[in-house]
Amino acid sequence: MRQKVATGILALAFSAACVAAEGTPVLIPRASTTVTPITITGNAFYKGSDRFYIRGVDYQPGGGTGVESDPISNLTACERDIPYFTKLGINTIRVYAVDNSKNHDTCMNALAAAGIYLVLDTDTSKYSLNREDPSESYNSVYLQSVFATIDAFANYSNTLAFLSGNEVINSAANTNCAPYVKAVTRDMKQYIGSRGYRSIPVGYSAADVAENQELMADYMNCGTTDQRSDFYAINDYSWCDPSSFTTSGWDTLVKNYTGYGIPLFMSEYGCITNTRTFEEVAALYNTEMTGVFSGGLVYEYSQEGNGYGLVTISGDTVTPNSDFTALQSAYSAQANPTGNGGASSTSASTTCPTKSSEWDVANDDLPAIPAAAEVYISAGAGAGPGLSGAGSQNSGNSSTESTGTASAGSGTVTETATSSSKKSEGARAPTFDFRALTVGVVILFSMAGGMALL
Ligand SMILES: *[C@@H]1O[C@H](CO)[C@@H](O)[C@H](O)[C@H]1NC(C)=O
Ligand SMILES: *[C@@H]1O[C@H](CO)[C@@H](O)[C@H](O)[C@H]1NC(C)=O
Ligand SMILES: *[C@@H]1O[C@H](CO)[C@@H](O)[C@H](O)[C@H]1NC(C)=O
Ligand SMILES: *[C@@H]1O[C@H](CO)[C@@H](O)[C@H](O)[C@H]1NC(C)=O
Repeated sequence: MRQKVATGILALAFSAACVAAEGTPVLIPRASTTVTPITITGNAFYKGSDRFYIRGVDYQPGGGTGVESDPISNLTACERDIPYFTKLGINTIRVYAVDNSKNHDTCMNALAAAGIYLVLDTDTSKYSLNREDPSESYNSVYLQSVFATIDAFANYSNTLAFLSGNEVINSAANTNCAPYVKAVTRDMKQYIGSRGYRSIPVGYSAADVAENQELMADYMNCGTTDQRSDFYAINDYSWCDPSSFTTSGWDTLVKNYTGYGIPLFMSEYGCITNTRTFEEVAALYNTEMTGVFSGGLVYEYSQEGNGYGLVTISGDTVTPNSDFTALQSAYSAQANPTGNGGASSTSASTTCPTKSSEWDVANDDLPAIPAAAEVYISAGAGAGPGLSGAGSQNSGNSSTESTGTASAGSGTVTETATSSSKKSEGARAPTFDFRALTVGVVILFSMAGGMALL
């Protein structure tokens, strides 16, 4: 439920998206603090030879203001918040949108110095898939922005993963977007490989929609290596304290995903129906789940008008709320399992789902990368448009759109790197997550994921 900047008729949503900070001073040294990059083996993440579990929060300070901004291009803002990350005991933040025309050295280095990794959504409100028109919005203008974001973050050792889309599919009615999401993931992997970058994992963040979250999981991990995601992430709000592993249904969740051959984590969790005590942390980092899940990210760091904030920010002042303390205690009380936590050392692909009333995808073909975007793969994307560019959703035309399909493994998009990079898709379509929560008088219409709506 990334809060998004609403455009058009959905502008009534509390848009949120990271407003905090931009404008990094120009004279920042490019020297970097390095951490051990995170890698994938089988269905788990590793830091060197140690299993790595994501313990994190979703970070979009200013997201409630309605103006999309980048919280990690402004040292004042990230320096204000990093001490609280440290206090919580986290190792990862997720950022929903960044300005790819800005420099991020200072915040990324400060995060690295605190041992914190970044899971980054590569879409922005203006540059994303449009779930109402995936074919037109999957175009070279969009991919140029995505690739420029990869360029801006690929060199940081604490870039943990890229999210190629967030909740693009949010109902049974738009599963037809799946091939575009998968194509973007493929293209991102191709770009990372072809540009010679470290094999930064690419995956998709799926909405909490019971009818198709697992179908999408299978779809993103089926087919040839170049098309398979490196991991899958789910948004899940089913554990509402007080609850339990069985009451919440997380036992079934684990059963359902058992044997899934790539890393899986929660890109958002933390139901606020009742007071949050974060009982679920004791399950998430326990062997009852760690054979299948690699941790997760709590939604969300700052109070942005929808009731999910762990802290309240006012100018330079950060005030922790009661659930901040609860999360801090829960993390500190639950150590990671010893050894590999039940992880599988081999990667396994899935079988592509077949077309049904809940899955509107006819076959395993993907749209080929638009010809105009292939140029970026070989020559680089060039300067990013930032957050205030003209946008890409209406940029589809005969010269920017995909004009054909690429069958699995057809080689239409060729990987040139020797690394494990693959192609994937990534796109964020406009998604709405109408999670109606009664939080005082607040009914939250959060528009998750993608940004763009018409
Ligand atoms: C950076 O963040 C601080 C703290 O939120 C804010 O006061 C300042 O205006 C931001 N600077 C820019 C250039 O956005
Ligand atoms: C990444 O780092 C390498 C080596 O320091 C440098 O040559 C290259 O320009 C950097 N790339 C970007 C996009 O910053
Ligand atoms: C698990 O899978 C079953 C059968 O497909 C489905 O009905 C159920 O909703 C799933 N439960 C969870 C928690 O994923
Ligand atoms: C197609 O869209 C691109 C990007 O917006 C634009 O530069 C180009 O002129 C358009 N071409 C046609 C034929 O409309």
